[in-house]
Amino acid sequence: MKIGIILTTTREGRVSDQVGNWLLEQSKAYSKSQFEIVDLKDFSLPILGEADPNNGIARWKEKLSELDGYIFALAEYNHSVPGVLKNALDYVGTEMANKAAAIVSYGAAGGARSAEHLRAIFGQTNTADINTHVLLSLFYDFENFTTFKPLDIHGTNLDQLFKSLDAWSKALQTIR
Ligand SMILES: Cc1cc2nc3c(=O)[nH]c(=O)nc-3n(C[C@H](O)[C@H](O)[C@H](O)COP(=O)(O)O)c2cc1C
Repeated sequence: MKIGIILTTTREGRVSDQVGNWLLEQSKAYSKSQFEIVDLKDFSLPILGEADPNNGIARWKEKLSELDGYIFALAEYNHSVPGVLKNALDYVGTEMANKAAAIVSYGAAGGARSAEHLRAIFGQTNTADINTHVLLSLFYDFENFTTFKPLDIHGTNLDQLFKSLDAWSKALQTIR
């Protein structure tokens, strides 16, 4: 299975890249699938409806299409998903349909509110969301809210998350 680890923020000084790189490392221990980082920053997506001839809309949609599943390294902005992610998902038609997605979120409350909003969006993209959810705390899993130093306690959840993602990605391939 080909799984994309989606970096959901693009701001200068973001930490989603640290979380995404950690997930890529963890995937080697927990899963046999093939993982890659998919960085929203690489696609230069304009706000939906804005004209921009050099945009990466087609590349973004192609990348989502070629993947069998996703893990969202998800930040929480104003109790919801980052605007840049919402905008990127507003381009999605059928690219994520009948595929599995897992959420690894971070924030003051583990990104829980953002994760619930993302699950609602998955309802519309026809994406099957994995129940097991890794919540990372800005207080306990980061130093000074900027340097990612995850606690060991996430191992059990990570194991279950990768297992479910492997199983559902494979199962859903059969109906596409
Ligand atoms: C615009 C903005 C809004 C934020 N709102 C929340 C919030 O509602 N809840 C929360 O837990 N953290 C919030 N934060 C703090 C972020 O969780 C923290 O800055 C995190 O590092 C953001 O992810 P990023 O570094 O990948 O951009 C907010 C940060 C920004 C920039």
